[in-house]
Amino acid sequence: MQEIKIERTKNPKQKPTDQSKLGFGNYYTDHMFVMNYDEGEGWHNPRIVPYAPFELDPAAMCLHYGQEVFEGMKAYRTEQGGILLFRPDRNMARLNVSNERLCIPQIDEEFAIEAIKQLVLVDEDWIPTAEGTSLYIRPFIFAVDAHVGVHPAKHLIFSVILSPVGAYYPEGLNPVKIYVENNYVRAVKGGMGFTKTGGNYAASLKAQDEADKAGYTQVLWLDGVERKYIEEVGTMNVFFVIDDEVITPALQGSILSGVTRMSCIDILKSWGMKVSERRLSIQEVADAAKEGRLKEAFGSGTAAVISPIGELKWGDVVMPINNGEIGPISQKLYDNLTGIQWGKLDDPFGWTVKIK
Ligand code: COI
Repeated sequence: MQEIKIERTKNPKQKPTDQSKLGFGNYYTDHMFVMNYDEGEGWHNPRIVPYAPFELDPAAMCLHYGQEVFEGMKAYRTEQGGILLFRPDRNMARLNVSNERLCIPQIDEEFAIEAIKQLVLVDEDWIPTAEGTSLYIRPFIFAVDAHVGVHPAKHLIFSVILSPVGAYYPEGLNPVKIYVENNYVRAVKGGMGFTKTGGNYAASLKAQDEADKAGYTQVLWLDGVERKYIEEVGTMNVFFVIDDEVITPALQGSILSGVTRMSCIDILKSWGMKVSERRLSIQEVADAAKEGRLKEAFGSGTAAVISPIGELKWGDVVMPINNGEIGPISQKLYDNLTGIQWGKLDDPFGWTVKIK
Protein backbone atom coordinates (compact mmCIF):
# COMPACT_ATOMS: atom_id res chain seq x y z
CA MET A 1 0.00 0.00 0.00
CA GLN A 2 1.28 3.50 -0.82
CA GLU A 3 2.28 5.61 2.16
CA ILE A 4 0.03 8.58 2.91
CA LYS A 5 2.03 11.69 3.81
CA ILE A 6 0.45 13.84 6.50
CA GLU A 7 0.98 17.61 6.78
CA ARG A 8 -0.87 19.05 9.75
CA THR A 9 -2.33 22.54 9.73
CA LYS A 10 -0.61 25.28 11.68
CA ASN A 11 -3.84 27.27 11.84
CA PRO A 12 -6.64 25.07 13.19
CA LYS A 13 -10.09 26.54 12.61
CA GLN A 14 -12.59 27.40 15.29
CA LYS A 15 -15.01 24.47 15.62
CA PRO A 16 -18.76 25.14 15.65
CA THR A 17 -19.76 25.60 19.28
CA ASP A 18 -23.48 24.82 19.09
CA GLN A 19 -23.86 21.27 17.78
CA SER A 20 -27.63 21.62 17.67
CA LYS A 21 -27.23 24.16 14.85
CA LEU A 22 -24.80 22.31 12.57
CA GLY A 23 -27.30 21.78 9.75
CA PHE A 24 -25.83 20.02 6.71
CA GLY A 25 -22.73 21.03 4.75
CA ASN A 26 -22.01 24.28 6.57
CA TYR A 27 -18.63 23.49 8.15
CA TYR A 28 -15.46 21.73 6.96
CA THR A 29 -12.66 20.31 9.04
CA ASP A 30 -8.97 21.27 9.15
CA HIS A 31 -7.63 18.70 6.68
CA MET A 32 -8.41 16.97 3.41
CA PHE A 33 -7.09 13.99 1.50
CA VAL A 34 -5.72 14.51 -2.00
CA MET A 35 -4.27 12.12 -4.59
CA ASN A 36 -3.46 12.64 -8.28
CA TYR A 37 -3.96 10.57 -11.38
CA ASP A 38 -1.75 11.13 -14.39
CA GLU A 39 -1.82 8.90 -17.42
CA GLY A 40 1.21 6.61 -17.39
CA GLU A 41 1.70 7.06 -13.64
CA GLY A 42 -1.68 5.94 -12.30
CA TRP A 43 -3.00 7.17 -8.94
CA HIS A 44 -0.09 8.57 -6.94
CA ASN A 45 1.08 11.05 -4.30
CA PRO A 46 -1.57 10.36 -1.63
CA ARG A 47 -1.47 13.00 1.08
CA ILE A 48 -3.42 14.55 3.92
CA VAL A 49 -2.96 18.31 3.85
CA PRO A 50 -4.53 21.39 5.44
CA TYR A 51 -8.02 22.08 4.00
CA ALA A 52 -7.55 24.64 1.21
CA PRO A 53 -8.88 25.64 -2.22
CA PHE A 54 -7.63 23.76 -5.28
CA GLU A 55 -5.76 25.59 -7.98
CA LEU A 56 -7.50 24.81 -11.29
CA ASP A 57 -6.77 25.83 -14.84
CA PRO A 58 -9.80 27.72 -16.21
CA ALA A 59 -9.90 25.10 -18.99
CA ALA A 60 -10.05 22.21 -16.48
CA MET A 61 -12.41 19.65 -17.99
CA CYS A 62 -14.54 19.14 -14.88
CA LEU A 63 -15.64 22.77 -15.14
CA HIS A 64 -16.85 22.36 -18.71
CA TYR A 65 -18.05 18.80 -19.15
CA GLY A 66 -18.80 17.63 -15.64
CA GLN A 67 -16.51 14.59 -15.57
CA GLU A 68 -16.91 14.18 -11.81
CA VAL A 69 -18.10 11.57 -9.34
CA PHE A 70 -18.64 11.58 -5.58
CA GLU A 71 -19.74 9.55 -2.59
CA GLY A 72 -21.40 10.28 0.72
CA MET A 73 -20.69 8.39 3.93
CA LYS A 74 -20.42 9.16 7.65
CA ALA A 75 -18.22 8.58 10.71
CA TYR A 76 -20.05 8.18 14.03
CA ARG A 77 -18.76 8.85 17.56
CA THR A 78 -19.91 6.15 19.97
CA GLU A 79 -20.90 6.83 23.58
CA GLN A 80 -17.66 5.09 24.65
CA GLY A 81 -15.57 7.51 22.54
CA GLY A 82 -14.95 5.06 19.68
CA ILE A 83 -15.36 5.91 15.98
CA LEU A 84 -17.38 3.83 13.51
CA LEU A 85 -17.77 3.90 9.74
CA PHE A 86 -20.84 2.32 8.14
CA ARG A 87 -20.30 -0.08 5.21
CA PRO A 88 -17.45 1.93 3.63
CA ASP A 89 -16.75 -0.99 1.27
CA ARG A 90 -20.16 -0.41 -0.33
CA ASN A 91 -19.48 3.25 -0.94
CA MET A 92 -16.08 2.61 -2.46
CA ALA A 93 -17.47 -0.17 -4.67
CA ARG A 94 -20.17 2.24 -5.88
CA LEU A 95 -17.54 4.92 -6.50
CA ASN A 96 -15.87 2.54 -8.92
CA VAL A 97 -19.22 1.81 -10.60
CA SER A 98 -19.61 5.58 -11.12
CA ASN A 99 -15.98 5.79 -12.28
CA GLU A 100 -16.55 3.13 -14.88
CA ARG A 101 -19.57 4.94 -16.35
CA LEU A 102 -17.75 8.27 -16.48
CA CYS A 103 -14.46 6.93 -17.92
CA ILE A 104 -12.60 7.70 -14.69
CA PRO A 105 -9.78 5.29 -13.78
CA GLN A 106 -10.68 2.79 -11.07
CA ILE A 107 -9.42 3.49 -7.57
CA ASP A 108 -8.04 0.88 -5.14
CA GLU A 109 -11.07 0.50 -2.85
CA GLU A 110 -9.14 -0.82 0.14
CA PHE A 111 -6.60 1.97 -0.14
CA ALA A 112 -9.37 4.58 -0.38
CA ILE A 113 -10.91 3.23 2.85
CA GLU A 114 -7.51 3.40 4.52
CA ALA A 115 -7.12 7.03 3.38
CA ILE A 116 -10.57 7.88 4.78
CA LYS A 117 -9.73 6.21 8.11
CA GLN A 118 -6.48 8.16 8.41
CA LEU A 119 -8.17 11.45 7.50
CA VAL A 120 -10.99 10.90 10.00
CA LEU A 121 -8.44 10.11 12.71
CA VAL A 122 -6.44 13.27 11.95
CA ASP A 123 -9.63 15.35 12.31
CA GLU A 124 -11.33 13.18 14.94
CA ASP A 125 -11.89 16.15 17.28
CA TRP A 126 -14.35 17.44 14.68
CA ILE A 127 -16.70 14.46 15.05
CA PRO A 128 -19.72 15.93 16.80
CA THR A 129 -21.18 14.13 19.79
CA ALA A 130 -24.70 15.56 20.11
CA GLU A 131 -27.63 13.23 19.45
CA GLY A 132 -28.17 12.68 15.72
CA THR A 133 -24.92 14.34 14.61
CA SER A 134 -22.04 12.77 12.68
CA LEU A 135 -19.06 13.56 10.49
CA TYR A 136 -20.13 13.51 6.84
CA ILE A 137 -17.42 12.17 4.54
CA ARG A 138 -17.39 13.37 0.95
CA PRO A 139 -14.96 11.53 -1.37
CA PHE A 140 -14.92 12.96 -4.92
CA ILE A 141 -12.95 12.71 -8.14
CA PHE A 142 -12.75 15.32 -10.88
CA ALA A 143 -11.02 15.82 -14.23
CA VAL A 144 -8.36 18.53 -14.37
CA ASP A 145 -6.90 18.34 -17.91
CA ALA A 146 -6.72 21.87 -19.32
CA HIS A 147 -8.50 20.99 -22.54
CA VAL A 148 -11.82 22.11 -23.93
CA GLY A 149 -12.04 19.21 -26.37
CA VAL A 150 -14.48 16.51 -25.24
CA HIS A 151 -12.69 13.29 -24.27
CA PRO A 152 -12.02 11.23 -21.12
CA ALA A 153 -9.50 12.97 -18.88
CA LYS A 154 -5.89 11.88 -18.51
CA HIS A 155 -5.34 13.87 -15.33
CA LEU A 156 -7.64 13.74 -12.30
CA ILE A 157 -7.75 14.48 -8.59
CA PHE A 158 -9.27 12.23 -5.92
CA SER A 159 -10.05 14.12 -2.75
CA VAL A 160 -11.93 13.58 0.51
CA ILE A 161 -13.34 16.36 2.67
CA LEU A 162 -15.17 16.11 6.01
CA SER A 163 -18.08 18.06 7.43
CA PRO A 164 -19.65 17.84 10.90
CA VAL A 165 -23.40 17.59 10.29
CA GLY A 166 -26.80 17.34 11.90
CA ALA A 167 -30.02 16.48 10.05
CA TYR A 168 -30.07 17.01 6.27
CA TYR A 169 -33.58 18.45 6.24
CA PRO A 170 -34.55 21.18 8.69
CA GLU A 171 -37.59 18.99 9.44
CA GLY A 172 -35.23 16.42 11.10
CA LEU A 173 -37.30 13.31 11.76
CA ASN A 174 -40.54 15.20 11.19
CA PRO A 175 -42.24 14.18 7.94
CA VAL A 176 -41.37 16.10 4.77
CA LYS A 177 -43.79 17.17 2.03
CA ILE A 178 -42.88 15.84 -1.40
CA TYR A 179 -43.96 17.05 -4.83
CA VAL A 180 -44.38 14.43 -7.57
CA GLU A 181 -42.57 15.79 -10.63
CA ASN A 182 -44.55 15.52 -13.87
CA ASN A 183 -42.64 17.94 -16.03
CA TYR A 184 -38.89 17.43 -15.66
CA VAL A 185 -37.00 14.13 -15.66
CA ARG A 186 -33.84 13.23 -13.78
CA ALA A 187 -32.47 10.26 -15.69
CA VAL A 188 -33.32 7.48 -18.11
CA LYS A 189 -32.07 3.93 -18.45
CA GLY A 190 -28.79 4.02 -20.36
CA GLY A 191 -27.97 7.42 -18.88
CA MET A 192 -26.11 8.10 -15.62
CA GLY A 193 -28.94 7.85 -13.09
CA PHE A 194 -27.31 4.92 -11.27
CA THR A 195 -24.09 6.87 -10.69
CA LYS A 196 -23.25 9.51 -8.16
CA THR A 197 -22.19 12.29 -10.48
CA GLY A 198 -22.82 16.01 -10.20
CA GLY A 199 -24.77 16.08 -13.47
CA ASN A 200 -27.64 14.09 -11.95
CA TYR A 201 -27.97 16.69 -9.23
CA ALA A 202 -27.62 19.61 -11.66
CA ALA A 203 -30.51 18.07 -13.62
CA SER A 204 -32.62 18.11 -10.45
CA LEU A 205 -32.14 21.73 -9.38
CA LYS A 206 -34.86 23.37 -11.46
CA ALA A 207 -37.54 20.95 -10.29
CA GLN A 208 -36.34 21.22 -6.71
CA ASP A 209 -36.44 25.01 -6.88
CA GLU A 210 -40.01 24.98 -8.19
CA ALA A 211 -41.08 22.45 -5.56
CA ASP A 212 -39.47 24.60 -2.88
CA LYS A 213 -41.40 27.67 -4.05
CA ALA A 214 -44.61 25.63 -3.85
CA GLY A 215 -43.82 24.71 -0.21
CA TYR A 216 -42.43 21.21 -0.79
CA THR A 217 -39.12 19.90 0.54
CA GLN A 218 -38.13 17.70 -2.41
CA VAL A 219 -39.44 16.16 -5.61
CA LEU A 220 -40.33 12.56 -6.28
CA TRP A 221 -39.05 11.59 -9.72
CA LEU A 222 -41.06 9.47 -12.11
CA ASP A 223 -39.46 7.38 -14.86
CA GLY A 224 -38.26 9.44 -17.79
CA VAL A 225 -40.07 7.46 -20.50
CA GLU A 226 -43.65 6.80 -19.40
CA ARG A 227 -43.75 9.25 -16.47
CA LYS A 228 -45.64 6.61 -14.56
CA TYR A 229 -43.25 4.68 -12.37
CA ILE A 230 -41.66 5.94 -9.19
CA GLU A 231 -37.87 6.32 -9.23
CA GLU A 232 -36.38 8.22 -6.29
CA VAL A 233 -36.57 11.45 -4.33
CA GLY A 234 -34.02 14.24 -4.92
CA THR A 235 -31.42 13.08 -2.40
CA MET A 236 -32.77 9.71 -1.28
CA ASN A 237 -34.28 6.40 -2.29
CA VAL A 238 -37.92 5.93 -1.44
CA PHE A 239 -40.10 3.27 0.23
CA PHE A 240 -43.90 2.91 0.48
CA VAL A 241 -45.85 0.72 2.88
CA ILE A 242 -49.04 -0.44 1.18
CA ASP A 243 -51.10 -2.91 3.22
CA ASP A 244 -48.43 -5.20 4.66
CA GLU A 245 -45.97 -4.84 1.77
CA VAL A 246 -42.95 -2.54 1.89
CA ILE A 247 -42.17 -1.51 -1.68
CA THR A 248 -39.14 0.25 -3.12
CA PRO A 249 -38.47 0.79 -6.82
CA ALA A 250 -36.25 -1.90 -8.35
CA LEU A 251 -32.78 -0.87 -9.53
CA GLN A 252 -33.08 -0.69 -13.29
CA GLY A 253 -30.24 1.61 -14.24
CA SER A 254 -31.80 5.00 -13.67
CA ILE A 255 -31.79 5.21 -9.88
CA LEU A 256 -29.07 5.11 -7.30
CA SER A 257 -28.24 1.91 -5.46
CA GLY A 258 -28.30 3.49 -2.02
CA VAL A 259 -26.27 1.95 0.81
CA THR A 260 -29.00 3.00 3.25
CA ARG A 261 -31.60 1.56 0.85
CA MET A 262 -29.92 -1.88 0.81
CA SER A 263 -29.49 -1.76 4.59
CA CYS A 264 -33.20 -0.92 5.11
CA ILE A 265 -34.19 -3.86 2.91
CA ASP A 266 -32.01 -6.24 4.94
CA ILE A 267 -33.28 -4.93 8.29
CA LEU A 268 -36.94 -5.09 7.21
CA LYS A 269 -36.47 -8.64 5.92
CA SER A 270 -34.79 -9.66 9.17
CA TRP A 271 -38.02 -8.60 10.92
CA GLY A 272 -39.93 -10.98 8.68
CA MET A 273 -41.58 -8.19 6.69
CA LYS A 274 -42.58 -8.57 3.08
CA VAL A 275 -40.23 -6.33 1.09
CA SER A 276 -40.56 -5.96 -2.67
CA GLU A 277 -38.12 -4.32 -5.06
CA ARG A 278 -40.42 -3.79 -8.01
CA ARG A 279 -42.00 -1.34 -10.39
CA LEU A 280 -44.45 0.86 -8.55
CA SER A 281 -46.63 3.32 -10.41
CA ILE A 282 -47.72 6.62 -8.90
CA GLN A 283 -51.28 5.59 -9.80
CA GLU A 284 -50.94 2.50 -7.57
CA VAL A 285 -49.79 4.74 -4.71
CA ALA A 286 -52.64 7.21 -5.33
CA ASP A 287 -55.19 4.36 -5.41
CA ALA A 288 -53.79 2.92 -2.18
CA ALA A 289 -53.94 6.36 -0.57
CA LYS A 290 -57.57 6.80 -1.63
CA GLU A 291 -58.51 3.38 -0.28
CA GLY A 292 -56.70 3.95 3.02
CA ARG A 293 -54.10 1.26 2.26
CA LEU A 294 -51.07 3.58 2.00
CA LYS A 295 -49.76 3.29 5.54
CA GLU A 296 -46.37 4.99 5.38
CA ALA A 297 -43.77 6.42 3.02
CA PHE A 298 -40.18 7.34 3.76
CA GLY A 299 -36.93 8.24 2.06
CA SER A 300 -33.56 6.69 2.84
CA GLY A 301 -30.07 8.06 2.29
CA THR A 302 -26.74 8.62 4.00
CA ALA A 303 -27.39 12.31 4.42
CA ALA A 304 -31.14 12.02 5.05
CA VAL A 305 -30.96 8.72 7.06
CA ILE A 306 -34.69 7.85 7.27
CA SER A 307 -36.94 10.71 6.33
CA PRO A 308 -40.67 10.11 6.74
CA ILE A 309 -42.95 11.54 4.05
CA GLY A 310 -46.07 13.21 5.44
CA GLU A 311 -47.64 14.37 2.19
CA LEU A 312 -47.36 13.70 -1.54
CA LYS A 313 -48.75 16.03 -4.17
CA TRP A 314 -49.30 14.64 -7.66
CA GLY A 315 -50.99 17.17 -9.94
CA ASP A 316 -54.25 18.01 -8.21
CA VAL A 317 -54.13 14.94 -5.99
CA VAL A 318 -52.89 15.60 -2.46
CA MET A 319 -52.11 12.48 -0.44
CA PRO A 320 -51.67 12.98 3.29
CA ILE A 321 -49.77 10.00 4.71
CA ASN A 322 -50.30 8.73 8.26
CA ASN A 323 -51.87 12.09 9.21
CA GLY A 324 -48.55 13.80 8.47
CA GLU A 325 -46.88 11.90 11.30
CA ILE A 326 -43.98 9.46 11.38
CA GLY A 327 -45.28 5.88 11.11
CA PRO A 328 -44.25 2.92 13.29
CA ILE A 329 -42.14 1.21 10.59
CA SER A 330 -40.22 4.39 9.72
CA GLN A 331 -39.61 5.06 13.41
CA LYS A 332 -38.46 1.51 14.17
CA LEU A 333 -36.22 1.49 11.12
CA TYR A 334 -34.68 4.83 12.09
CA ASP A 335 -34.08 3.62 15.66
CA ASN A 336 -32.57 0.36 14.49
CA LEU A 337 -30.39 1.75 11.73
CA THR A 338 -29.06 4.68 13.74
CA GLY A 339 -28.65 2.36 16.76
CA ILE A 340 -26.29 0.22 14.68
CA GLN A 341 -24.53 3.22 13.13
CA TRP A 342 -23.80 4.89 16.48
CA GLY A 343 -22.82 1.58 18.08
CA LYS A 344 -25.74 1.64 20.56
CA LEU A 345 -27.25 -1.61 19.27
CA ASP A 346 -25.70 -4.91 18.28
CA ASP A 347 -24.64 -5.07 14.66
CA PRO A 348 -25.85 -8.52 13.58
CA PHE A 349 -25.01 -7.78 9.93
CA GLY A 350 -21.38 -6.83 10.58
CA TRP A 351 -21.82 -3.46 8.83
CA THR A 352 -19.88 -1.14 11.09
CA VAL A 353 -16.11 -0.72 10.86
CA LYS A 354 -14.42 0.37 14.05
CA ILE A 355 -11.54 2.73 13.37
CA LYS A 356 -10.95 3.67 16.99
C1 COI B 1 -25.92 11.32 0.54
O1 COI B 1 -26.95 10.91 1.05
O2 COI B 1 -24.81 11.10 0.99
C2 COI B 1 -25.95 12.12 -0.67
O3 COI B 1 -25.01 12.05 -1.41
C3 COI B 1 -27.03 13.05 -0.91
C4 COI B 1 -26.44 14.36 -1.14
C5 COI B 1 -26.51 14.79 -2.54
C6 COI B 1 -26.60 15.35 -0.11
